[in-house]
Amino acid sequence: MNKITAISNLQKDFIDQVFELTSKVAKKWPNVEKVGTGKTICLLFWEPSTRTKLSFEHAAKMLGFNVLDFSPEHSSLKKGESFEDTIKTLLAMKVDGFVIRHPEDNISKKIEKLLPANVFYINAGDGNHAHPTQGMLDVYTMKEKFNELKEVKVTILGDVNHSRVVPSQIELLKKYSCLDINYLGPDSLISEKFSPSFSTTSENCLADRDILFILRIQKERFKDSDSLNEANFINDFQVNDNFLSKTGFNGYLMHPGPMNIGAEITNEVADSDKSLILRQVENGLYLRTALLTLIA
Ligand code: CP
Repeated sequence: MNKITAISNLQKDFIDQVFELTSKVAKKWPNVEKVGTGKTICLLFWEPSTRTKLSFEHAAKMLGFNVLDFSPEHSSLKKGESFEDTIKTLLAMKVDGFVIRHPEDNISKKIEKLLPANVFYINAGDGNHAHPTQGMLDVYTMKEKFNELKEVKVTILGDVNHSRVVPSQIELLKKYSCLDINYLGPDSLISEKFSPSFSTTSENCLADRDILFILRIQKERFKDSDSLNEANFINDFQVNDNFLSKTGFNGYLMHPGPMNIGAEITNEVADSDKSLILRQVENGLYLRTALLTLIA
């Protein structure tokens, strides 16, 4: 297994191995085995990124990889070179593996076919199709708190429709028998395939939930037919002290980032004792280090 396109293509045994190694990496960080010595990895990000790109770069450098940072804006793509020719050009330069983020849904499947068997590849987000390493680091973080996820109750709040994190996370939670997942937010952001969903809150409606996974409004993936009244969203669904008090939520708060403070969440909530948001970021570094170690 050296092509990570989506969680659905991965065996649970493999994810177990990733989680086991993540835990070992976390314990001995920054002392990691230099599995990347003599190998070159290329990071290609067609969309902005802080967490994913820099954690992969940090992990790869600590593992001893030579890291090439491909910037589409400053490449020959600007002179009309195609995506396919860009990949072939980088392969000719003896790149051993790629981490790629791209706005096109499902482009990871095309990329997988373009690459030879010995070249590794990690999908760092393709449209709203998948973001497998985000799903892995989120579920790893949940397992740190609960170990077994079978009885854990997860509510995903906000812009579910435009999220590539949600499909990866749901797939992975299912693999760990976590089936009590529901959705909260305006109907315009949660299509019928995400069920059960709720478009209003009531007193203590979240009192029995263990995890509230909060999503930002991903405007960059809105289509012309999509619409949202942001003021109403903030009024009804912003996770702030009043929201927590009304809904009775007392579990852990998670967010894949980046957060839009003052929109879907407030600073007070993001910085509260129950927030796992920075733990998710830290685990992302360890998990991506482990994943590169296993597939490179
Ligand atoms: N969660 C996530 O993918 O964050 P970045 O866009 O900062 O990489």
